[in-house]
Amino acid sequence: MTTSLPRQDRIRRALELLRNETTDKFDDLVQFEPDEFTDPVLAKDERDHIFGRVPSIVAHGSEISRPNDFVTVQMPRNNIIVVRQKDGSVKSFVNLCRHRGAMLEQSDKGRCRIFSCGYHRWSYDPDGSLRTITRDATFGEVDREEHGLIEIPTEERHGFIWVVDNAHAEIDVASWLGPDIDPMLAEYEMDQLVCFRAGGFDEPTNWKIMQDAFLDGYHIQYAHPNTAGKIIHTNVMAFEDFGRHCRFIAPRKSIDRFLEEDPGDIPLDKYVTETHFLLPNSTLLRQPDHFQLLTFRPHPTDPTKSRMEQRLLVPKVEDSGMTPEKWDRIWNKNWEILLAVLHQEDFPLLRDSQRGMGSADAGDMLLGRNEIANQVFRRETKKLVAQGRAELNA
Ligand code: FES
Ligand SMILES: [Fe+2]
Repeated sequence: MTTSLPRQDRIRRALELLRNETTDKFDDLVQFEPDEFTDPVLAKDERDHIFGRVPSIVAHGSEISRPNDFVTVQMPRNNIIVVRQKDGSVKSFVNLCRHRGAMLEQSDKGRCRIFSCGYHRWSYDPDGSLRTITRDATFGEVDREEHGLIEIPTEERHGFIWVVDNAHAEIDVASWLGPDIDPMLAEYEMDQLVCFRAGGFDEPTNWKIMQDAFLDGYHIQYAHPNTAGKIIHTNVMAFEDFGRHCRFIAPRKSIDRFLEEDPGDIPLDKYVTETHFLLPNSTLLRQPDHFQLLTFRPHPTDPTKSRMEQRLLVPKVEDSGMTPEKWDRIWNKNWEILLAVLHQEDFPLLRDSQRGMGSADAGDMLLGRNEIANQVFRRETKKLVAQGRAELNA
C-alpha cells in the first residue's frame, strides 16, 4: 500500500475517501486476546526485545539546549539521565551511582556541572566520568575508568533525542526509520522548532492500550463528540504502510467546502491532520502550524501501567511573526485544550478498558479492517518480540 504521492495528491485522496464515505482498509479483521495487556511475561519481553533493541524518542533537543542541561527519564529497562555535552552532542547514562547504587539525580530536569551522589558524595562529570571518591585514602584503589556512569546509546536526529534502552546495544536512527520515513522527518525541519511544553502522565493502563487510542481514527466522534469530533472526520484515513512505520491523513471538517466543488490548485494543507506512527511508541501529528508528539512507555515492572508524554513543538517566537505575549497565549491555550481532552475524555475510557481486560472471562476481541494503523502497531510489535525470542533461543 506504500505510495509516494505529493502531499496535495494524498490530501485529494483523503477527500475522495470522504466523498465516498469510506476509508482505507486492510483485507482482514484481526482477533486479539486480553492477556496481551496484562501478561507479565509478555511485558518483560516487550521491554527487552522492543525497547532494549530499537530507538525511541525521549525528548526534543530544545528541552536540553545548553551544555550540562539534563532530563531524567524512566525508560522500560533503565532509569536514565540524558545530558547535553560541552561539544553539543547528547549522552545518556543509567541514573545510578557506581558505588552502591543510589539514584544519582532525582529531578526531572535541570542543569548540572557535576552529578553528586547523596549517599557518600561520589561525583561524576556530565560526560559520565567518575570525578571524586570521597575519603579515597581509606576507600581503597579503584580503577576510575571502569567506574564511570554506564552509557546508554543515544542519538539526536530530526530535532529529537533517541535512545536504545540497553547499554549493550548500538543506535542508528536513520536505518531504523528507513528510506521512507527518515527523509520525510528531515523535510519537516523539526530541529528548527522548540518544545513549547512537555508533560508526562502516569496511567494505570498498558502502554499498548494507550498507544492504540492515539492511532485510532474510528473513535473520534463517539469519545470526543464536543471536542475533536467537531473538528476532524471520523473513520476516514488515507493510509500508507511503510512496513515498520506508517502515516495517514485524516480530513478536518473544514475540508467539507470542497466536497462538491473541486479545490483545483488551492493548497489543502490546512484542511487535514497527518499522523505518523513511529514504531515502537510514538505518534507524531503534523498540524497545519505545529507538531504534536505523543510517546508511550511501558512501566518497568507492571504490565498494567505506563507513562504517556505529550510535547507541543512550535515555531520559535522569533520565527512566528507573533509577539512573545501572543505566542505564549496561543500555545498555552492550545496546550490546555489538549490536556483537557486527554484527562477528561481519553484517560478515563482507557483506564476502564484496562480494568475490563483483567476480567477472567474477557473473551477475545477484534481490530477492524478500518483500524489499519492499530493493525500495523500490533503486527510490528509482535514481530519484534518474536524476533527477540527467536534470537535468544537460537
Ligand atoms: S552510593 Fe553513591 S556515593 Fe555511595
Ligand atoms: Fe481519543
